[in-house]
Amino acid sequence: MKKYYITTAIPYVNGNPHLGHAMDYLLADVLRRYMMMRGKDVRVQAGTDEHGSKIYKKAAEQNIPVQEFVDKNAKSFQDFIHSLDAEYTDYVRTTDEDHVRRCQLIWEKLSDHIYKDSYEGWYCEGCERFVTDKEYDENGGNCPDHNKPYQKLSEENYYLRIADFKDQIREVIEKDELNICPAFRKKEFLNLLDDMPDVSISRPKEQVIWGIPVPGDESQVMYVWIDALANYITVLGYPEKDITDSWPADVEIVGKDILRFHAGIWPAMLFALDLPMPKNILVHGFVTVGGQKMGKSLGNAIPPEEIIEKHGLIPFRYYFLRHGSTTDDVDFTWEKYEAAYNELANDLGNLVQRLATLCGKNGVNGIKVEETENKEFDERMEKFEFNFGFDILWGQIQDLNKRIDEEKPWSVAKEDLEKAKEILRSLVQDLVNICPRLEIFIPDTAKKIVEIFTAEEISAPKTPLFPKN
Ligand code: MSP
Repeated sequence: MKKYYITTAIPYVNGNPHLGHAMDYLLADVLRRYMMMRGKDVRVQAGTDEHGSKIYKKAAEQNIPVQEFVDKNAKSFQDFIHSLDAEYTDYVRTTDEDHVRRCQLIWEKLSDHIYKDSYEGWYCEGCERFVTDKEYDENGGNCPDHNKPYQKLSEENYYLRIADFKDQIREVIEKDELNICPAFRKKEFLNLLDDMPDVSISRPKEQVIWGIPVPGDESQVMYVWIDALANYITVLGYPEKDITDSWPADVEIVGKDILRFHAGIWPAMLFALDLPMPKNILVHGFVTVGGQKMGKSLGNAIPPEEIIEKHGLIPFRYYFLRHGSTTDDVDFTWEKYEAAYNELANDLGNLVQRLATLCGKNGVNGIKVEETENKEFDERMEKFEFNFGFDILWGQIQDLNKRIDEEKPWSVAKEDLEKAKEILRSLVQDLVNICPRLEIFIPDTAKKIVEIFTAEEISAPKTPLFPKN
C-alpha cells in the first residue's frame, strides 16, 4: 500500500519556533491522526531549513559557530513539534550529509534546464528571493512581510528555465491534478504564473558562504529555496532510492507566503526530474496578533510556550484548530484565548463532570466506545476544512448539554431509577462515541473522557478537566 505522505514547510533556523510554525505542525497532525483513523499508513516529514545568508549572519551576530548555531536551533524545532503532541516519521535537516549529497545529484539531473546569466535586481533577505521591479514599486521599496528595504544585488547566477514548464504547470493546476486548496489561492497563483520569471538557483559563494556547493562550480552555492524544496524527496532517499512507496506527496502543507515556491518552482523541478506532482497543496493563513503578521524578522512573536503554560496544550490546540480557520488568517489575543478556554470548561468540562457524577450516584457502568459513521465530518475533513470538522463535533457536544438539561436525569431518578439510568447511558454512549474523532484535535482530553466513562465504576474526576482559575 502506498503511504499517505504529508509534508510540512521546513522553517529557517535563524530564531525560535513561533506560532506561525505551529500552524504547519498542528494541521499536519490533524491530518495524520484523521488518515490513521481511516486506516492509512501515514508518513509525515518535518525538518529545518538551515542554509542561507540570514542564518549565517545570525550565527555571526551571536558569536556562535554556524554549525553549532543550527544544531541548537534544529533541536528546538524538534522539541517544539513534540510539545504540540504532533509526530513526524522523518526529519530532514538541510545540513545533513545525505541531503547535501542528494541535492547535488538532483542539480545534475536538472542540468538540461539550467543556464548561467548575470542579473541585477532587488532582493529580500527575509523572503530569500528576488522581487520584480513591479513588486518593488508597489511596495515602495520595502518588503511588507519583513518591514525591511529591498537590497540591490547584481550577480552572475545559474537559472532554472521555468518557462520550459509553465504550460504544464498551468495545466496540472487547472485540472486539479495538483490541487491547491483553498480555491481562491489557486486563482491567485494562476494569475501570477504568466509573469513568473526564470528563477535564479544559485548565489555567488562570496555573497553566501553557507550553502550547498554547486557541483562543478566552486564559485557558486545553491539558492536556499532549491536546497529547501528538494527536502521533500531527499528525505525519502531520492535519487539514491526508489521513492514510489511514498511519492507523490498526498498533501503538502504550507503558509500563504510560500505558495508561489511550492506551486511554481517546485513543480518545475519535479517536471524536470520526471517525477509526479504532489496531489494537494494545503495553504494556511497567517497567525496574527491584533491583526499584524507575526514573525521572527518582525520581532513581535508571542512565544507559543507562554500560551501553552497558561492552561496546558489542549486549550492551545483547541484555539488554533477550532477558532482558527484552516485556510484564513487566525488572530490571537489573550482575551479571545480566555473566552475559548471558558468554552472548553463550560461545554465539555462541565458536561463530563455532571455526567460522571450522575453515573456514579445512579450506578451506571459498563460503557464501551462504539464505532460510528459521520459522513458530514468526513466530507469536511476530506476537503481539508478541519475547523469545520471540529465544529461538527463541538455541535454534538453542545447538543448533549441541551439534552441533559431537558431530560433532567437527576430529577427522573427520584421517581424512576431505571429510566434515569437509560437516559444517562444514552448520553454517555453518545459522548464516548464522539471521542475517537475528538482525539484528532484534543487527544489527551478525548482519551481521558473515554477512560472516565469506560471505567468499571464511573466516578467524577477529582479535578475537573478544565478547572476555572
Ligand atoms: N524555509 C522556508 C520554507 C521552506 S519549505 C521547503 C520558510 N521558512 S519560515 O520559517 O519562514 O516559515 C515556515 C512556515 O511557517 C511556512 O509555512 C510559513 O508560511 C509559516 N509561517 C511563518 N510565519 C507565519 C505566521 N505568522 N503565521 C502562519 N504561518 C507563517 O518559509
